[in-house]
Amino acid sequence: MSTTIRIFSGIQPTGVKHLGNYIGAIRQYVASQDDGHPFICIVDLHSITVAHDPAELRESTLSVAALLFAAGLDPERSTVFVQSHVSAHPEAAWLLGSVTSFGELRRMTQFKEKADQQEFVSAGLFTYPVLQAADILLYQTDVVPIGEDQRQHVELTRDVAERFNARYGETFRLPRAVFPEVGARIMDLQEPERKMSTTGGTAQGTLLVLDPPEAIRKKLRSAVTDSGRDIVRSPDKAGITNLIEIMSVATDKEPEAIESRYDGEGYGTFKQEVGEAVVSLLEPVQRRYEELRSDEAELRRLIALGAENARAASAPTLEAMYERMGVAKP
Ligand code: AMP
Ligand code: TRP
Repeated sequence: MSTTIRIFSGIQPTGVKHLGNYIGAIRQYVASQDDGHPFICIVDLHSITVAHDPAELRESTLSVAALLFAAGLDPERSTVFVQSHVSAHPEAAWLLGSVTSFGELRRMTQFKEKADQQEFVSAGLFTYPVLQAADILLYQTDVVPIGEDQRQHVELTRDVAERFNARYGETFRLPRAVFPEVGARIMDLQEPERKMSTTGGTAQGTLLVLDPPEAIRKKLRSAVTDSGRDIVRSPDKAGITNLIEIMSVATDKEPEAIESRYDGEGYGTFKQEVGEAVVSLLEPVQRRYEELRSDEAELRRLIALGAENARAASAPTLEAMYERMGVAKP
């Protein structure tokens, strides 16, 4: 086990997962099975830090699990589990809270953005990155596949790990974030200056992984571009750049190849073909998702198995943390 690289990532069971999640994160989780045995955590304890509906949270926890398996996570080659099923996570978060500073947390961009959207800003939303650090560090993680918006949280995790190691002795490996080469930040189709998001984006500009083919085609056909004609990536062409990246991922071709393929074509044709490519990309995932959802007992069995693996993998690190901090259990 110690010779293979340790891979860990987390995904929230809130909102319906969108194309940004699929391209920026889920696709990387699946690919990482070739490099090691990824631990993929459905972070329900993170999702309670903002207003939520308990019944919906319960439902989307199962739904995200089904989506992860449908996307290609193989229960034999990965561990998919729910954060709240492994109590080491909140325990480790409490311990790490004492080696994380108020100032560090106050600087987190995601906290500032999310706090602005809430009527009630919970203490949990503020300490959210500490729980994320616990998630990652408990598994002696080397690599964290994520989208661009999580970069700062993994940097904080490294700082916290280094501080703990310096104060209490070498305990954690230092994790490193990895981003997909193309698609680390998929933008809203209607407002391409901001990232695609179910909480902060537009409804028409957010393409859901489970959108029916007709909705996918329509959202891409009506994607906002610019008044030019050239299908090239450029800082002043956020809409077209985003569509080129989506097409690149959907057809598994370099962005340069997409640019030369569509040289001289109009935006209309291009958008239509991106629509078809995304329908083909998501169609098999949607089909497997429906199959998995129709067998809830099997889905629950897989998650229970994941929790068992995760408990065993995280226990030694949690024990070392207690021990070194001088609060060892009797
Ligand atoms: P969340 O749904 O917030 O838990 O995000 C799950 C994963 O999706 C994280 O690794 C994020 O970095 C990634 N992600 C979220 N939004 C986007 C986006 N618009 N483009 C690329 N990756 C994203
Ligand atoms: N904060 C992440 C997000 O919003 C989700 C997350 C929780 C995570 N714990 C993690 C991601 C550990 C990577 C590793 O997307």
